[in-house]
Amino acid sequence: MCGIVGYVGRRGATDLLLSGLRRLEYRGYDSAGLAVLRDHALRIEKTAGKVQALADRVFETWSPKERSEAHMGIAHTRWATHGAPTQANAHPHTDGSGEIALVHNGIIENYAEIRARLEAEGHRFRSETDTESLAHLIGACYEGDLLQAVCAALKHVQGTLGIAVISAREPDRMVVARRGSPVVIGLGDGETIVASDAAAVVAHTRQCVFLEDDDVAVVTANGAELRNVHNVPVAREVSRIDWDASAAEKGGFAHFMLKEIFEQPDALRNSLRGRLDAGQGTAVLSGLNLSAREMASVDRVVLVGCGTSLHSAMVGDYYFEDLADIPADVEQAAEFRYRNPILSPQNLVVAISQSGETADTLAAVREAKQKGALIAGICNVVGSTIAREAGRGVYLHAGPEIGVASTKAFTAQLTVLLMMALKFGRCRRLSRQKGLDLCAELERIPELVSAVLARNDQIAAVARRFADVRDFFYIGRGYLYPVAMEGALKLKEISYIHAEGYHAAELKHGPIALLDRQVPVVALLNDVPGREKTMSNAQECRARHSPVIAVITEGDHEAAALGDACIEMPRASARVAPIPTTVALQLLAYHVAQARGCPIDQPRNLAKSVTVE
Ligand code: F6R
Repeated sequence: MCGIVGYVGRRGATDLLLSGLRRLEYRGYDSAGLAVLRDHALRIEKTAGKVQALADRVFETWSPKERSEAHMGIAHTRWATHGAPTQANAHPHTDGSGEIALVHNGIIENYAEIRARLEAEGHRFRSETDTESLAHLIGACYEGDLLQAVCAALKHVQGTLGIAVISAREPDRMVVARRGSPVVIGLGDGETIVASDAAAVVAHTRQCVFLEDDDVAVVTANGAELRNVHNVPVAREVSRIDWDASAAEKGGFAHFMLKEIFEQPDALRNSLRGRLDAGQGTAVLSGLNLSAREMASVDRVVLVGCGTSLHSAMVGDYYFEDLADIPADVEQAAEFRYRNPILSPQNLVVAISQSGETADTLAAVREAKQKGALIAGICNVVGSTIAREAGRGVYLHAGPEIGVASTKAFTAQLTVLLMMALKFGRCRRLSRQKGLDLCAELERIPELVSAVLARNDQIAAVARRFADVRDFFYIGRGYLYPVAMEGALKLKEISYIHAEGYHAAELKHGPIALLDRQVPVVALLNDVPGREKTMSNAQECRARHSPVIAVITEGDHEAAALGDACIEMPRASARVAPIPTTVALQLLAYHVAQARGCPIDQPRNLAKSVTVE
């Protein structure tokens, strides 16, 4: 996710902003920029690429006075969402006059509408971003008071934002605001530091104020005055932060993986944002760039991916067949081009990749292109090679994933696949009513995930009981079969315990020979179709003395009775259940690995992006 730093105080702002950006580099980004104010004029520098490249430009092209004599400024690391990671799209963005500069985290949902209106009034835009529309809007509202202008502009904006804004006409104060995207104000001695996370603040002060939604603050060297968007004063507590810088990067969590597991309600809200059409009971996925007629004429979907992304392809296979009535197949990306896949222009190949750089998935995209099939990418990293070469697709908007084990990308992939299948279904035979029901299910996903996260301690206690074993099995059926495989993959990669995910019925075709007291079985017994049959399979495991960890729907005493230990899930439909269930298995794997003292964020032999065959 993007990062914001702002400074106003007695020291030179430029160096301080650059060091603040370095502290936010761990969040992942693809361009950077800053704006400082000196002698009533803004100086802006932006670059695609790393903070070091930005620092090099500043040191090469700015005079020492320009660097040291500016005492206020804002800076940003951008993780592209709207528009490629280019210099023009990097923040800060300015209004029409060039006198107001803004950095923004989040997504302005109604940016296209705002932009069209302002362009009709004569505003000239210089980037493809959603953010620039807010900069121009603040400029259009400006009548000599930046606070008033920001409050007025925010009334017209939908979406999420954390912003910091400065004006050349108001040299000693900055305005910051929050709606859904964090902003923290660090109160120093004769200086104030603003940031999107405490990691950029703790080096300077530990006295912090965290803004709440719809808070707006005027920040000066002497502190901050808080108001709401209606310009009415509000009071917020000053908190003391005791984290060191490295804990601050992880938002106080012990590992990035845990932080990313806990980020899932927000990440999934971002994946869903603006994409459900509650009138038509369909999804709005403009990046697919296919007409209703083209979607109706797709006669086969082939889903490709590797590792965790292959598991989401397996769930997607069910979604397309069940909801869109389209025959669907899953192909391991690594095999795809070696198998002479039979493809036609009516076939849609869906390439799924968090990084958008996985070599085998990219090769599958190229093979599909060669054979004339339609291609769509489902990627997290905007502007990544697969996203570009696929030419159409849906971004996850889950924010950067830093922990090597994929977590929030998987649940976002399932959410996007469900929306895609809904969209295709509505262009074919799926009724409006069924579409509306599915929209309601999709909207509930973040709260279902939060309900699982609330059981973290219970799951950790189960994990500790089984942390010393050498082998694990995971079983499930239907939509939960790929989830069993994903649960096993998570466990093996971070805890180094051998784990296998099997279809519940397949166990007795061989692997059951391995079961004994030392081999626990995680049985996915959620109250969805297939539950009774998986319960019988769990019985078979118990009969071989395997301890059963039963994953059940809350209140299901019958299924609970099969477990030596239980993990309760909130009630969810069969289609949505894979998402909260996966979150529980991520936590199980995490706590087992934690109990074994494993290096969770960087497991041995693994890389975050696999760019070789
Ligand atoms: C597992 C994991 C890997 C990736 C795989 C594909 O936790 O992270 O299995 O899922 O390497 O990566 P992407 O999705 O970037 O193509």
